[in-house]
Amino acid sequence: MPARVVVGSQWGDEGKGRVVDLLAADADVVVRYQGGNNAGHTVWIGEQKFAVHLIPMGVLRGKPCLLGAGMVIDLDVLLEEESELGSRGVPVRGNIRISENAHLILQYHKLIEAAEEERRGERAIGTTRRGIGPAYEDKAARRGIRMGDLRDSDALAEKVDTVVTYKNLLLKNVYKSPTVDPDKIYNDLRVLHDHFGEMVCDTSLIVQEALDKGQRVLFEGAHGTMLDIDWGTYPYVTSSNPLSGEVAAGAGVSPKALDQITGVTKAYTTRVGAGPFPTEMAEEIAASMRDAGGEFGSTTGRARRIGWFDAMVVKKSVRLNGIDSLAITHLDVLGRFDEIPVCVGYRCGGEEVSDFPNQIEELARCEPVYETLPGWRADTSQVKRFGDLPENARAYVRRIEELVGAPVSHVLVGRQRGQDIVL
Ligand code: GDP
Ligand code: IMO
Ligand code: MG
Repeated sequence: MPARVVVGSQWGDEGKGRVVDLLAADADVVVRYQGGNNAGHTVWIGEQKFAVHLIPMGVLRGKPCLLGAGMVIDLDVLLEEESELGSRGVPVRGNIRISENAHLILQYHKLIEAAEEERRGERAIGTTRRGIGPAYEDKAARRGIRMGDLRDSDALAEKVDTVVTYKNLLLKNVYKSPTVDPDKIYNDLRVLHDHFGEMVCDTSLIVQEALDKGQRVLFEGAHGTMLDIDWGTYPYVTSSNPLSGEVAAGAGVSPKALDQITGVTKAYTTRVGAGPFPTEMAEEIAASMRDAGGEFGSTTGRARRIGWFDAMVVKKSVRLNGIDSLAITHLDVLGRFDEIPVCVGYRCGGEEVSDFPNQIEELARCEPVYETLPGWRADTSQVKRFGDLPENARAYVRRIEELVGAPVSHVLVGRQRGQDIVL
């Protein structure tokens, strides 16, 4: 399979990092195509935890990694990530290339986002406050600064000046917040360009060259389908399209080149930040799962909200992403229950709902319909073959396949590299 996509099928944090790390062993290039450092992808190797936010997970396998055009990049964070990984023996510099078309996240994006979240008060999105939304706003408004803009210092000075004049008007007059210094932004960018400049190029050409040579390209999705700006629980979503359809635009590759779409799904559901969550469970049950499942945001450290598996969500993801196979993660975490509720559908006013609603107001009127499956009360974290899982655990996986209409290709039973079952 020369071109494979890994996408999150729920609200993010499904374990994409683990799945990409697993599949990257056989990849020649790994590519992020959207989002920024709102993502946090984690894998444990022995006692060491590696969490990446911007650099594709393939970096741990020493693979060439591309940061695609659809991304928004905070170069200070990238610098930190490079030095943190480097200090732990992971070579970064020779292995990453950054799209010249990717947009930059700058200081004013973070200030505006914080002010906007405060202004929303109770309606706050609960964003990661990394400046993601405001950076994508500027991209759409055609006033963004891109990686390629750093090459021409005179043109850059003019662009920074124009945009900062506008942002300072907003910060001062609308948000009553401190303003930013255009000279500092410009000078910092020049220094960052000295460091990163040689890594910046048209990354779409590298993808094409790899595909032309018959090499294997792995596209690493960030966030999840329910956080997609068009298809998620709007407005409680991120500002990009995590969907597999975005790979083409965000990485700069023909959609015809994509062969295999793998959807990552937790054996239950989590979400971090505000917004609807039909199968959210009582906090006392959630608390019993949080440590075992690593259910604290990799980016912000916030405790994740936890709910039962919601087939309505994943069924919609299978359809929208064209998911060929599912990687089910965190099956081990469910080994503590006698019985496990699974949401098999929704009812609204006594009527069955056929598809996960697009409007959150409609979603709020839906009642999840649960089926209760028997638990297995066993430690599965060392299981290596599907056939060696307890019978009820296998039945749970098979029921998910049936409910969402996609076959399972991988089952993950722990946070460590190697705690996985390939079907
Ligand atoms: P991502 O954003 O989709 O890459 O997921 P995160 O890395 O943000 O969150 C997944 C969390 O679950 C991390 O703390 C991982 O260490 C942990 N994790 C991943 N897969 C498994 C699994 O199969 N079982 C358990 N117990 N933990 C896992
Ligand atoms: P990974 O790739 C979980 C959520 C935020 C918030 C909403 C908008 O690790 O799965 P943003 O900062 O993007 O404007 O916040 O989206 N969110 C994520 N939740 N995992 C992520 O990424 C997320 N990226 C954004 O919590 O609710
Ligand atoms: Mg994450």
